[in-house]
Amino acid sequence: MKIAIVGPGAMGCLFAAFLSKSKEELWLLDKDKENASRINEIGISVEGVSGAWHAKIKATANAQDIGKADLILIFVKSFHTKQAVEQIKPLLQENTKIMTLQNGIGNTEIIAELAGENRVIGGITSEGATLIETGKIRHAGRGETIIGTLDGKAPVEIRSIRETFNKVGLETRMSRDIKGLAWSKLIINAGINALTAITRLPNGKLTEFEGTKRILRDAVTEATRIAKRKRIKLIYDDPLAKVEAVCEGTSANISSMLQDVLKRKRTEIDFINGVIVRLGQELGIAVPTNKLLVDLVKTIESSYKWSLPAKSSIPKV
Ligand code: PAF
Repeated sequence: MKIAIVGPGAMGCLFAAFLSKSKEELWLLDKDKENASRINEIGISVEGVSGAWHAKIKATANAQDIGKADLILIFVKSFHTKQAVEQIKPLLQENTKIMTLQNGIGNTEIIAELAGENRVIGGITSEGATLIETGKIRHAGRGETIIGTLDGKAPVEIRSIRETFNKVGLETRMSRDIKGLAWSKLIINAGINALTAITRLPNGKLTEFEGTKRILRDAVTEATRIAKRKRIKLIYDDPLAKVEAVCEGTSANISSMLQDVLKRKRTEIDFINGVIVRLGQELGIAVPTNKLLVDLVKTIESSYKWSLPAKSSIPKV
């Protein structure tokens, strides 16, 4: 099997490093030429919960170098999914599968629309990673990966992907309901990501302060109301208890949205709390906390050039 990973962020590098342990041919596709050649040169160094180890990786900025692939993992930010699918079109052959484990809602739909429903493998992962610099990541947390197809069937290709993932140490199982999976992850991200990005706290601190605890609870309750109205079946019974448990289980994690804000980058807010706000309007369900979180994160994103560094003195007015 030939595997290509698109997007050399923290999670893309983590999965590339693990999958490099398999006997499959593996490529990392990066739209940045310099970054790709640097990774080619130095590989990926991992430190953290899986120990300190190094993986040699073939990386390129040119999709033609890869040729036809059997499995493509999309790990770009959700607002770049469309562009990534366009970029990988030369890699597609009849049975190529495209997998997304990205945060948020909407990625499977984008891939299905541009490349065909039968190619899509959706899912979620509870592995956690932080990008330290090019070719260097921290494996911040371990957890299972759950994958499935849009029609709930389990063709031979997906079973062999599960096997490959498990062999290299990425604990993986299958589900027949990837919509339920995506929403189960969405509710976790809706409770944690924006709030950490605004407060600049690691995940675990959110449940230690009355204010953040209450806001997290309200964001999760609103998101759960939407999921219920849409008859989504979540993979846990008590959403609030689950989100609080994820905060504790990933207590030292810098959430992906906080990582973006610290790097002054665009965030995935539109694909997370933004989805709740849009659906709230559509379904006539009030979601004021999610609306506030979206407004604040969007303000942060569009005001990087005015925001003061952490240790600056108070400016004279
Ligand atoms: O986006 C993230 O950072 C992760 O999905 C999660 C679960 C919030 C842990 O940090």
